[in-house]
Amino acid sequence: MKKSYAIKVPIKYAKKTKVIIKLNNIQNKNLKLRKDKKFIYYPIKELDNNKLIKFKKVKYIEIMLTSFEEQEKKIQSYKENLKLPDNLKKHLPTSYDIIGKIALIKLPTQLLKYKKNIGISILKSKKNIETVCLVKPVEGELRTRDIQIIAGKKQTKTIHKEFGLTFFVDVKNTYFSPRLANERKRVASLVKPGEIVVDMFTGIAPFAVMIAKYSKAKIIYAVDKNKKAISLAEQNVKINKVIDKITLFNDDSKNIKKILEKEQVFADRIIMNLPFSAHDFFIYALDIISENCIIHYYTIIKEDEIEDKIKDLKKIAKVKNVFITRYNTNKIKSYSPREFYMGIDITVKK
Ligand SMILES: C[S@@+](CC[C@H](N)C(=O)[O-])C[C@H]1O[C@@H](n2cnc3c(N)ncnc32)[C@H](O)[C@@H]1O
Repeated sequence: MKKSYAIKVPIKYAKKTKVIIKLNNIQNKNLKLRKDKKFIYYPIKELDNNKLIKFKKVKYIEIMLTSFEEQEKKIQSYKENLKLPDNLKKHLPTSYDIIGKIALIKLPTQLLKYKKNIGISILKSKKNIETVCLVKPVEGELRTRDIQIIAGKKQTKTIHKEFGLTFFVDVKNTYFSPRLANERKRVASLVKPGEIVVDMFTGIAPFAVMIAKYSKAKIIYAVDKNKKAISLAEQNVKINKVIDKITLFNDDSKNIKKILEKEQVFADRIIMNLPFSAHDFFIYALDIISENCIIHYYTIIKEDEIEDKIKDLKKIAKVKNVFITRYNTNKIKSYSPREFYMGIDITVKK
């Protein structure tokens, strides 16, 4: 308990008084307000003479000195209450990803010994987090990652919200990056009414759902080889109410030509979010383009390698007798000191 000046008012004047306190910016935010049956006590800062006179004139207000409970101090960062040898503090990551109620953190070897304490500190610093996972980079064909729960509830499935959309995610068995949220929104904003869109590596379908919800695309065909990802994608399509806009396929995107032939359509826009291997699939994407198609091609690349990458893609286009007429690049996030997760919007014409 701590002593402080207070404004005491009958409960029926609480709302009015709250406004006055706010307007005058006199609330003592370090203390919790207190109530009894008849009165409410607002902790306030010490008042200057002018304000004191002004408040004393208000009939129902009484100014007094009383005791209040202290507010729990808000922890700004997980580093604040973490006990760690001083020489190791500099190795603590400045950020970590949050997917729904799960935090995913990467730690350097020196800190692995302290992983449990680090996990607990994250839980304490963020009320909405239930689980903290130590993660390694995504790997393998299905772009999943090795995960170890270091604190909190034993779960790898969660519900993530993004731009008003709901996504069921399994952080262990499927790929999902919350850092691509703005990119998904940007791509959706480029889609023109009536477009046929193909998402060749859809994962749990965040691009497809975003486009279905925030554009007037005619239909989105979304493919992924990972059965678990497609199963979550089905749930995401349902929960976001876009069943009539998205058709899902649990298949290899090397079969994309066959898939679209059955549907008797060509793509006006293609999303290729498979950064380390998109290059190997570019030739398959060119099999399904309409007369004028935009390909959102994602890659991990150094800035000075972009020109060569485009030259390379132009060579593949030539084999298929199509032309890359325009491209523009967007840096999405850093990958390593010199490499970026880069999006390239490529215009291809037949
Ligand atoms: C980097 S993730 C992107 C997922 C999703 N587009 C997103 O933004 O969250 C790449 C996805 O491609 C899928 N994948 C890998 N090889 C594939 C292939 N040959 N055919 C179809 N999907 C494939 C993986 O299972 C994974 O879900």
